[in-house]
Order: sequence, then structure tokens, then C-alpha cells
Amino acid sequence: MQIAASRQCVLILDFGSQLTQLIARRVRESQVYCEIVPGTIDVERIRSAQPSAIILSGGPDSVYESNSPKSDPGLFELGLPVLGICYGQQLMALQLGGLVEPSSEREYGPAELVVDEAIGILSRFREGDVSTVWMSHGDRLTRLPTGFRSIGHSQNAPLAVIGDPARRMYGIQLHPEVAHTQRGRDMLEAFLFDVAGLERSWTAGSFVEQAVERISEQVAPDAHAICALSGGVDSAVAAVLTHRALGARLTCIFVDNGVLREGEFERVQNAMQKLGLKLIAIDARARFLGRLAGVSDPEQKRKIIGNLFIEVFDEESHKLGAVTHLVQGTLYPDVIESVSVKGPSAVIKTHHNVGGLPERMKLKLIEPLRELFKDEVRKVGESLGMPRDVIWRQPFPGPGLAIRCLGEVTEKRLQVLRKADSIVTQEIRAAGLYDKLWQAFAVLLPVRSVGVMGDGRTYEETCALRAVESSDAMTADWARLPYDVLAKISSRLINEVAGINRVVYDISSKPPSTIEWE
Ligand code: XMP
Repeated sequence: MQIAASRQCVLILDFGSQLTQLIARRVRESQVYCEIVPGTIDVERIRSAQPSAIILSGGPDSVYESNSPKSDPGLFELGLPVLGICYGQQLMALQLGGLVEPSSEREYGPAELVVDEAIGILSRFREGDVSTVWMSHGDRLTRLPTGFRSIGHSQNAPLAVIGDPARRMYGIQLHPEVAHTQRGRDMLEAFLFDVAGLERSWTAGSFVEQAVERISEQVAPDAHAICALSGGVDSAVAAVLTHRALGARLTCIFVDNGVLREGEFERVQNAMQKLGLKLIAIDARARFLGRLAGVSDPEQKRKIIGNLFIEVFDEESHKLGAVTHLVQGTLYPDVIESVSVKGPSAVIKTHHNVGGLPERMKLKLIEPLRELFKDEVRKVGESLGMPRDVIWRQPFPGPGLAIRCLGEVTEKRLQVLRKADSIVTQEIRAAGLYDKLWQAFAVLLPVRSVGVMGDGRTYEETCALRAVESSDAMTADWARLPYDVLAKISSRLINEVAGINRVVYDISSKPPSTIEWE
């Protein structure tokens, strides 16, 4: 991975904690740029990245075990400010001559931190302050390395916060990045601003400027780029940023794959054309629905749609003549996944909308959002003047309604689902809930049941309503929608959508369920 050396940057060395991404998000929220790199990265690579400070993350291992991940000891000779969190604290202490031993029992949960010296990362506290912090560790530091002293303690961790102010090195046993740690932000910001002397320089505006400059340098003056729009925020922001750099040398392609929502094909075209983008819209509905005919298996559906999309996109781009670059809206979490110290996780669902595209088309990639988290993409979109409904649109999967139309995907069933989906969205918006929910949508189940409508018997399919709250889709909880909203949706679905005579509410969280049904 390329580490940016062109600006103030904090490097976060990842030792495998689930919370490493959260540390990065907190640092970014404080408007300081940071990148996550493997904990075992060698010191020469660190030096060449010219970071302004280092954070060592937590991790699931014990530092004294021979096979646990270790940082390059040369790291501590660079003269940089270092903050070690949990495993990171113990590792730094061990590598500098301290001692770490197993605790008699694992400490997990809230604890009271007492501030003994209001210096360094505790400089925003007063001596004697007590605040609630979150602890999670099975080992503890029992002897400090030379130069360090304890500046904060808890009942079970006499060396909960340690520091060597002369070398600007600090270690904390607790987790400042989690919301349960009351004044975690004060600790992190004290490290970033007071100890490391960084500035709040990471803003959407500064990002746009640098990204546009970088794209202009990356793409030769006679080269052309294409971008596949999905209607989602990531590809739209990536396209608008690239358009700023390349102007008419960027062509966007938007494919109607037959499984879009009501009015979506027109909506996306209008929004993107208003922003000045050159857009080719392709109606490929018949081709997609033709290949999906008779297919009920979820993975099959995903593969058919993914592969056909590549075919269509490839054909269209050939019509454009010499294209050299492909714009993709890859985000930072995808990048981290591939550099993390953890192994690859099991494939639950095939989830690469345009996977395989760059290889097949032999194009160079432009990925202007590779260093951003989702919330940062939205801020960038806002600073580019993009419309609110594009930026704040709830996520919609690449395989579209096909994976919400359980069983066979036919035009008739899609029509039912489109109408149902549109009612759900209208009512969720009307209740002021659209921005609060991660997603709210309808799923059409191939389950028929008996109902009564007027004087007649009905025998129709079932609509499942799914509404979830989440911050990153890795985990999600079903939304506790008000009964009157549920009632209104249910009654409208059954009364207005021919083909549905029963509505059920999905009350499963993720894990163990997933957000989409297929
Ligand atoms: P699951 O169902 O895995 O979904 O809990 C997590 C999030 O990802 C979205 N999703 C997709 N997005 N292409 C996408 O662009 C896909 O193939 C895809 N599958 C799921 C889903 O809507 C949810 O927000």
C-alpha cells in the first residue's frame, strides 16, 4: 500500500483489534489525517511515510507470547510521539524494557480512572479527576520501562496511564476510542494537539483540492476515463471529483439492469446531468431479466447480474474509443480489509458489484475515495455542492431488487415489489425517519397465504418489511419503528399493491441475520 507522505499524517499500527478502525475514525473526526498499516511494518517504511505521530492499536494477543505481532523496535528511535493503546501500551512497554504479566482475572467493562498527573494525554484533565473509562484486557503492565512514570490509575490497573514526557511517549490500558470512555476524545486530542503538536488540517475542502490535483497528475492530458454509476453516493462522489479534474475526458455509464427501484433510472440521470457530468444511460432491462429467468438461487442471481454488468459496461466503453482509466468509489474500509493483520473472512455473500472489471478491461484505476470513511465521503459530496438526496441516499445493493425478490425474478413480481418499496420509502420519509435509519425497504416473499378483501377470498404473496439501524452495516439492529408507522405502511401495502395480502415485520439483527435477505 502507498502511504501518503505529502501531509500531516498519523500512522496507526494495527495489531488486530476490532477497534482499530474506530481509532482511525476518531482521529479523522478531530480533523487529523491518519492511515492504518500492519503493526509489524518495518521502520524504513514508517520513516519514508514521514508521519507526525504513531498510535499502536490494541490486539487480541499477549505481548509476551513469542508468536504475537511485534512492532519494529527501531520505531521508538525515530523521535516521534507515540501513543500505545491496550496491547499497544504493553508492547511499547515491553519493547522498551518493562514487564507485562497475565492478570489474575480478565478485566472487561467500565472502570474509574483517577488522574494523578495532568500532563501529556491527560493534560485536558485536572489532578484528582475521576472519569469512567472502558477496559478490556487479560494482561497487565507490572514494571515500567526507564523514563516512564504512572500518571493515572484505576483500582485494578495501577499503571493504567503511563508516560515519558521527555520522549513524548504515552500508553493507556483503557480504550479512549469507544463511546463508553467518557472523556476519550480529550485524551486522543491531547495526544494529537498538545503532545504531537498537530493541526486540524483534514477537512473536506482540503481533501477535494488535493484529490483533484492528484487525479490531474495521474491521468495524462490525452487520456480518457470512464465511471460506472450505481446511483449510490460513493460512485457519484468519485465521479464528480474526477469530473473536476478531467472535465469532458470523463464519461459516466449508468445501466438500467431491470432491477432498479421506481423512477430511479430517470432520477439518477437528472441528478448527474445537473452536475454537468457526461452520462450515457443504457436500457439493458431485457437482457438482465432474460438471464435471470428461472433463477431462484441468491448467489446465482448475484453472479448473473455482476457478470452481465461487466459485459454491458465493456461493450459500451469500447464504443467510446481509447479509454485508459476506470473510476471506482472504493472506500477506506475495503482498503484496510486487504492490509489488515487478520486473515480473510469467510465469504457470506458475493459483494463486488464490478469485481473483475479492471483486469478484464486492462484499465488503470482512479480511486479518489480510497482513504475515506463513508461519513467523510458525504462531507466531500456536500463540499462539492452535490444534492442532498444523492448524498444521503440509503444504501442500495448492486444486485438491486433481484435480491429482495425472493424466488424467481419476473417483471410481474418486480412491479409488485417496486410499488411496495416506493410506499415504504414514502412513509418512512413522511415519518421523518429516512435519515435516522440505515435502510428501510420491502422484500417480496414467494409465500402465499389466504386473505379476505371485500367479499372475496385472496391468495397472494407476502411482503416483509425490513428497517435497520447501523453505523457501518457490519452490525445492525432492527429498528423499533413506531406502531402507527408500521400500521400505516401495512395498510397502504395491502390496499394499494395488488399481489400482496399480508405484511410481516423482520425483527432480526445482524449478526446472525444479514440486512438483505439474499
Ligand atoms: P448484508 O446483507 O450483507 O448487507 O448485511 C450489508 C450492506 O451491504 C449492502 N449490500 C450490497 N451493496 N452490492 C452493494 O453495493 C452488493 O452486492 C450488496 N449486498 C449487500 C446492503 O444493502 C447493506 O447495506
